[in-house]
Amino acid sequence: MEINPVKGTHDILEDESRKYYEVESLFRSLAFLYGYKEIRTPIIEHTPLFLRSVGEGSDIVNKEMYTFDDKGGRSITLRPEMTAGVLRSITSNKAYVNKELPLRYFYNGPCFRYERPQAGRYRQFHQLGVELLGSTSYLADVEVITLGYKLLSNIGLKNVKIKINSLGDDESRANYKVALKEYFTKHIDSMCEDCHHRLEVNPLRILDCKVPSDIEIVKDAPRMSDYLSEASKDRLNKVIDALTSLGIEVERDENLVRGLDYYTGVVFEYHITPKEGENDVGAIGGGGHYAKLLKELGGPDLEGVGLSFGEERLIYVSKEAMGESYNYEGPDFYFASLCEEALSKNLSYSEYLRNAGLHIETNYEVKSVKSALKSALKLNAKFIAFVGEDEIKNKVITIKNLKSQVQQTIKVENLYRNALELIDNYYKDLNN
Ligand code: HAM
Repeated sequence: MEINPVKGTHDILEDESRKYYEVESLFRSLAFLYGYKEIRTPIIEHTPLFLRSVGEGSDIVNKEMYTFDDKGGRSITLRPEMTAGVLRSITSNKAYVNKELPLRYFYNGPCFRYERPQAGRYRQFHQLGVELLGSTSYLADVEVITLGYKLLSNIGLKNVKIKINSLGDDESRANYKVALKEYFTKHIDSMCEDCHHRLEVNPLRILDCKVPSDIEIVKDAPRMSDYLSEASKDRLNKVIDALTSLGIEVERDENLVRGLDYYTGVVFEYHITPKEGENDVGAIGGGGHYAKLLKELGGPDLEGVGLSFGEERLIYVSKEAMGESYNYEGPDFYFASLCEEALSKNLSYSEYLRNAGLHIETNYEVKSVKSALKSALKLNAKFIAFVGEDEIKNKVITIKNLKSQVQQTIKVENLYRNALELIDNYYKDLNN
């Protein structure tokens, strides 16, 4: 019986995995340029970590977590996002002791959410992102938003829209929550079951509700901007002005509240307007400021700001920028064995050239010239190297350029130098 992949998961094969590699490499180099260091945290964490950070009123905690009891009876959750684990790790390892602040970490890895699978929405997906901890300056928000913007432009994405908003400081948010509670209490009887729960736990989460009739009610709800303190307004404006001065356009979106409970202050999302015929995969990335999260998780009182991109969504929207079908670059040389004795010769030639940094493939079978050529072409090799009885006797190798079809014989003693020259000339010809 055939076993299918789990719903909402996907295999990443060959050309596709090359795109992940490209995006991850661009991201890593960029993160290093800003001084971020890599952090790798476990995929499984104790469930309370997410209840206390992402929040009990959020859809992620309420409906989307993969939670189970392990054999020791502990409640364990597959991480639905990365920030909570990173902060837990900073606390567990006291990573802040004797360190120059701010701390800067970048990460990349799989996350799990039990969502309804659709375009750009998976149950196992990959996030890459950064967290910056230990700065209260608005410039920390600016740095993180800029880094995200740079990644998108390095990938070659155009038409990036950055939405920005502020969820205010504690006082602003507390006043806003009171106003929301008052407003929604009047309408709650006609709202969905989830909103009943949200009203009790965190009325801000009602603003994320996707039920059409509830969206209508949300439209007339009090607005965050009317409850922002002067300090919060001022900080948001400073962030917007600094981004503008760097040539990064942002758009204020008063409805942007983000789906996680830990944010305070500035929040933001990156969107790409879909082209005709393309699916709108939603935000490709998002993040924001969190003033209290590290402390709430038992760490020191350091403010943070971070962002995460969804790799699947990044790759979906960057198909065009990165080339629809990114071909795996084939080997530099395909070594063909035309007789039994050639097999061991080719093994050592291949090893020798790999040590020189060349990409060599061979298969451990004796082949006819025709069938070896077929294999080399299938692999998209630049050159095929034939070794048969004559070559062994004369201590030579016959090499054919599969693009120009030019064939030549080289001496085994010159293999290293000639192979490098051939590859060098191959690229020179390509560029002419
Ligand atoms: P988030 O908005 O929940 O934020 O997720 C970040 C990104 O992950 C989304 O913009 C989206 O691209 C991707 N994503 C989320 N769910 C899925 C899914 N089911 N399938 C595919 N992609 C998905 C966070 O997770 C925060 N931790 C971001 C952050 C970092 N805030 C501060 N630091």
